[in-house]
Amino acid sequence: MQELVLLFDASIFRRPDFARVWSLASAKLTYLQIGYITQLMVIEVLSPTVAPNQSPSHILPHVFPNIHKLCLSVDYISNTMINIISNALIHLTHLELRDQPIIEPGIAFDLTDEGLQLINQHGRLKHLSLIRSQEFNPTFFRRVTDQGILFMADCCTNMESICLAGFCQVTDTGFKTLLHACTNLYKLNIFNGTRMTDLVFHDMHATSLSLTLVSLRCCNLLTNSAVLQLALNMDLNVLDFRDSRKIGDKALHAISKLPKLRTLLLDGTDVTDLGLSYLQKGTQSSLHKLSIRGCKRLTCKCVSSIFNSGSNRGLRELDLSNLPNLTNGGVLFLAKNRIPLVDLRMRQCPLIGDTSVMALASMTMADGDRWHGSSLRSLDLYNCGGISKLAFQWLKKPYFPGLRWLGVAASMNHELVDSLALNRPFLNLMTRGEELRTDKWDNLDDIYMHDYEEVDELEQWIFQEDENMTDDDLDDADVNDDDDDDYADGYGDVEAEYE
Ligand SMILES: *[C@@H]1O[C@H](CO)[C@@H](O)[C@H](O)[C@H]1NC(C)=O
Ligand SMILES: *[C@@H]1O[C@H](CO)[C@@H](O)[C@H](O)[C@H]1NC(C)=O
Ligand SMILES: *[C@@H]1O[C@H](CO)[C@@H](O)[C@H](O)[C@H]1NC(C)=O
Repeated sequence: MQELVLLFDASIFRRPDFARVWSLASAKLTYLQIGYITQLMVIEVLSPTVAPNQSPSHILPHVFPNIHKLCLSVDYISNTMINIISNALIHLTHLELRDQPIIEPGIAFDLTDEGLQLINQHGRLKHLSLIRSQEFNPTFFRRVTDQGILFMADCCTNMESICLAGFCQVTDTGFKTLLHACTNLYKLNIFNGTRMTDLVFHDMHATSLSLTLVSLRCCNLLTNSAVLQLALNMDLNVLDFRDSRKIGDKALHAISKLPKLRTLLLDGTDVTDLGLSYLQKGTQSSLHKLSIRGCKRLTCKCVSSIFNSGSNRGLRELDLSNLPNLTNGGVLFLAKNRIPLVDLRMRQCPLIGDTSVMALASMTMADGDRWHGSSLRSLDLYNCGGISKLAFQWLKKPYFPGLRWLGVAASMNHELVDSLALNRPFLNLMTRGEELRTDKWDNLDDIYMHDYEEVDELEQWIFQEDENMTDDDLDDADVNDDDDDDYADGYGDVEAEYE
């Protein structure tokens, strides 16, 4: 066995015994992920142990001699734990740690500047992710300052990807040092960089970096001029500025020049319809995924701004959720122009209603000389204002033949939802506001990724009922298969591989 992913809460096991069990783990293990474990248990598991009934000088060999990649969710990320992980795991190249303190950690259980100095003792680390999640408590790494980041930059010059969430005390000095010290860096992910300003990217051209993924979420001091500098990285294929509220149209102008951009996430930014129209690049556009959730300045014309004059035809995933002025007219535009979306999210849009569902259901896709139904595999209509009984008629077979995920509020429509579930047993119905399947690389949104068993309804029809369909239809059913795997940041990758 080389890879082991335990998504459960390991803290339920009795402590000393749990540590002893790991001495039986295969020495070939290269990748270990644990859904939840306390930092104390991590320390016990990795501490050198004395064999039972032996003299204290008889130390057993370390567990996990071959671990390259370790992903843990813990109660506290502490210096002691960082030290022991970094010291014991000689081959570690990939470390992802996430904590979500219920109470503010005391100094003995917290990460400080000194802890960051100890993080790469064997010098092999290439991918590092340190996340303090605010799930239970609006907390952050209070004891980490620029000094800690300078220490880290010093010992981590080979780093290729860095993800830091909750480093609210770190200023431009710290972030800038990272960019200049880590010359191989290609993925940069900063969440809640509350003190980060445009100056971090001011002399982007003076670095030799070629960034491909940049995510700067909840960095509210950042403005368009940071994006203008970032857009000098012509190989960028993922940009994420979610909830960095000052990012607006000028940024989009710079972004529109990026030839390889596939994913653009702008939720909660200041962009307008005009800014979106800058993204028009004819049929050659590389853009595959766009999210403009909750952008307050967008009107019902935002959809036509994106797709006007045949632009962005390659777009497959579009998130229009939480847009109070989005109307059915926008969705009719999508249908009329036969935009072959596979994932469309419009949750919490008060003006979206039955007309939108009917338009999408009646959509037909040209595929060579054949025509078939809507291309959608995921559709989120949770809490849309105008969804009534009528819409449910259009969600049944034979409409939406490829649909696997549907978000819809059950509150008023219990019977309709139940009957839809009977009609489409292979549809994953999400009725309590859960997000539909999220991207694998986006590990900041959820800690546990569920790997739902997916059965393609379309395939079922083909094999059981409908001899008329050809293999071409099967191929089409797979257009959604995630090409985003490249960006996998660890927690998402839940498939255990057994030898
Ligand atoms: C960011 O960090 C601050 C503390 O500096 C906190 O108050 C705030 O809630 C955080 N914002 C987000 C969106 O997490
Ligand atoms: C959205 O609609 C409301 C009500 O019609 C209007 O007052 C508001 O200005 C609109 N928002 C935008 C961004 O156009
Ligand atoms: C299959 O084809 C036959 C004849 O071409 C047609 O009558 C029938 O309705 C088709 N079935 C489906 C499910 O499309």
